[in-house]
Amino acid sequence: MSEALSEAPLLEVRDLVVHHGQLRALDAISLRVLPGEVYAIIGANGAGKSTLLRTIAGLHRPTAGSVLFDGEDVTALRPERRARQGVVMVPEGRRLFESLSVEENLRVGAAYARPGPWTIEQVYEMFGWMRERRNQRTAQLSGGEQQTVAIGRALVANPRVLLLDELSLGLAPVVVQRIYGMLPQILAAGLTVLLVEQDVSQALRVASHIHCLLEGRTTLESKPAGVTAEQVEAAYFGLAGIARGDTAASGEGSEL
Ligand SMILES: Nc1ncnc2c1ncn2[C@@H]1O[C@H](COP(=O)(O)OP(=O)(O)OP(=O)(O)O)[C@@H](O)[C@H]1O
Ligand SMILES: [Mg+2]
Repeated sequence: MSEALSEAPLLEVRDLVVHHGQLRALDAISLRVLPGEVYAIIGANGAGKSTLLRTIAGLHRPTAGSVLFDGEDVTALRPERRARQGVVMVPEGRRLFESLSVEENLRVGAAYARPGPWTIEQVYEMFGWMRERRNQRTAQLSGGEQQTVAIGRALVANPRVLLLDELSLGLAPVVVQRIYGMLPQILAAGLTVLLVEQDVSQALRVASHIHCLLEGRTTLESKPAGVTAEQVEAAYFGLAGIARGDTAASGEGSEL
């Protein structure tokens, strides 16, 4: 943790409070995402994961707290402005424009693009099938293909931080593995990734840092190596005896 504190975060959230009407969906959430890392938010349904990502992207206005990107307070900026600065989200459930073609969807992503290495052509280089089917409506693609187009659409915006909300949702394990298999290439291009994942083992496999939410509160925050399966389970389901990962919970706890 001390080395993490000495390095400046690319993305930082400070004491974030977000309400949906009366509901306090996020309660004093803080996190620091370092450049080049894969930071995973885990937690059960309704924990506040999407709310956190959407607030970082500028789609919800917090009641209190702030979002800093590259040292600058972006809390008041509209989503398009944040995208131009490099904060780009792949929303939960893909949310493509289904009546538009693959290429038209990619062009939407390019509309708020920063200058950078990713172009539509570059995305086609990475996913050959997409070029072949570029004129097809995305409604006709499989779930995994749509997810890949959604990632491509985010990449052409040339993000510095990519926010990925539940990439695995509704996809077969083999497709999930294929999609997570793209991560090294995305990281090699210099991106930082903040992702939401309900599958804890998947999160532990890919992430350099995990952060567990439960009913809008942080219940665990740690490097994957610093926690036991019991600690993660307790944080995820809200069992007694939870503790922050770095300070270790009580109990014998088996290794993950
Ligand atoms: N637009 C909204 N209006 C009202 N309540 C909302 C809204 N969006 C989310 N909520 C509520 O806020 C809480 C957190 O929702 P959120 O979508 O952030 O959870 P999540 O962790 O992403 O869940 P899931 O794993 O099911 O996607 C839930 O109780 C949800 O019902
Ligand atoms: Mg969600």
